[in-house]
Amino acid sequence: MDPDRYVQALIFAASAHGGQHTPHGLPYLTHVCSVAAEIVAALQAEPGRDEDLAVSCALLHDVVEDTDATLGQLEVAFGAAVAAGVSALTKDVSLDKPLQMLDSLDRIAAQPPEIAMVKLADRIINLGPPPPRWSESKRLRYRNEADRILDRLGHASPHLARRLRGRIAAYPPDPV
Ligand code: NI
Repeated sequence: MDPDRYVQALIFAASAHGGQHTPHGLPYLTHVCSVAAEIVAALQAEPGRDEDLAVSCALLHDVVEDTDATLGQLEVAFGAAVAAGVSALTKDVSLDKPLQMLDSLDRIAAQPPEIAMVKLADRIINLGPPPPRWSESKRLRYRNEADRILDRLGHASPHLARRLRGRIAAYPPDPV
């Protein structure tokens, strides 16, 4: 992995997400870096991937969905493969809400496996402690969604599939 590329993507994500916070009130970059940490561990467990593609997309996976950053900017800064990966990881808000995730999963499945790895890593991190205001039915829905992600994309990384399966089984985790 090229550390200069990592830092470039981190700085792009930091300036795009600006003052955004996670549902737990932490700077949004903690989410992004947590997803990247899952990816780095998976790349060590399963060598032979395009490490820069996986790590760049991990750090940038939410910038188009959640900020003013555009796919065009990503393509200029990081190349077409990263822009295409982030595009697949971005929900199409012109579709009805229930279709948005299935459509994104279809588009991720058509990308290189590194992009599916980012989606698996994102859901592993998001299956930490749920935000306190989430109702039981919302938590259940979220866990069912994770089952669908695992079914559809788990083949891309046995390591991440195993971790996601563990998180699903333990969700919601006991409060700390
Ligand atoms: Ni995310």
